[in-house]
Amino acid sequence: MQNVSDVAKQWIRDKGGELLSQDELQKRLVAIDQQAEQKSAEDYLALKRKVYERDSLWPSGKKTTFTFERWLPERQPNKTAATEIKAQTQNLFKRLRREAFNVFLNGSAGVGKTAMTLAIVDAFEKYTNKTTMFVSAVALREAVMFDFSDLQAKAKLKRVEKSMLEVDVLVIDDFGSEVGMAGSVRQATERLQQFYMRVADARYEVDENDKRTKCTIITSNNTRSELSTMYNDKLISRLVTKKPANILLFVGLEDVRE
Ligand SMILES: Nc1ncnc2c1ncn2[C@@H]1O[C@H](COP(=O)(O)OP(=O)(O)OP(=O)(O)O)[C@@H](O)[C@H]1O
Ligand SMILES: [Mg+2]
Repeated sequence: MQNVSDVAKQWIRDKGGELLSQDELQKRLVAIDQQAEQKSAEDYLALKRKVYERDSLWPSGKKTTFTFERWLPERQPNKTAATEIKAQTQNLFKRLRREAFNVFLNGSAGVGKTAMTLAIVDAFEKYTNKTTMFVSAVALREAVMFDFSDLQAKAKLKRVEKSMLEVDVLVIDDFGSEVGMAGSVRQATERLQQFYMRVADARYEVDENDKRTKCTIITSNNTRSELSTMYNDKLISRLVTKKPANILLFVGLEDVRE
């Protein structure tokens, strides 16, 4: 007389099914679990990236992109300098994949600072699972100084702030050009200073091994010491690196804007 298990096995064989040992069954369950975990990690990353894309503030209101491949040294009269800055930026990106630190791109107008920054952002999105966010300092100033009776604008700014605190890689583009003249000095308003201070403080966090976890990339036409006259020292110290290896100086390059 056949027992139930034998009948079941025969039935599975008749249907062309596969009989799995306990071991094999266990392995397959583990594999299914791993696939599900990977899929949910990918979905979570895609969702986070959507949020940071929504909260990014672009100079023209529209997202722009750039890649290392699109950087053409021949656009510059000094082709060697243009080739060199690309190599420096790519090396910096390699280091940024391993550790988080602040980056400062400094140089005059139209030399390609924003383009290079967007190339770093593009590389992070393509080759890593880090999240990125782009904030135009001028657009941010407008949002921060906006009339606060507008509840929708207020809610939007709250979301932008939260994202700026949390994102792995934050770009603050054209830092310093948002600061207007107050009498004879160029100094940021108290409200703007406080906003940036909350961001800078949160982004300076370290993990249990004392390693920074977040990277902030600043582009500016102003030097670090010029920025120090517009914002308080505590802020500049947290936001704008003074370490030469983490600074990209766009020297010997010209304005290529058409
Ligand atoms: N080497 C290059 N190859 C191709 N395009 C370039 C190059 N350098 C700059 N560009 C393009 O020229 C324009 C000006 O560059 P970008 O906006 O990056 O300058 P910037 O240094 O950020 O200027 P600003 O200080 O005014 O913000 C952009 O459209 C950019 O894509
Ligand atoms: Mg720029």
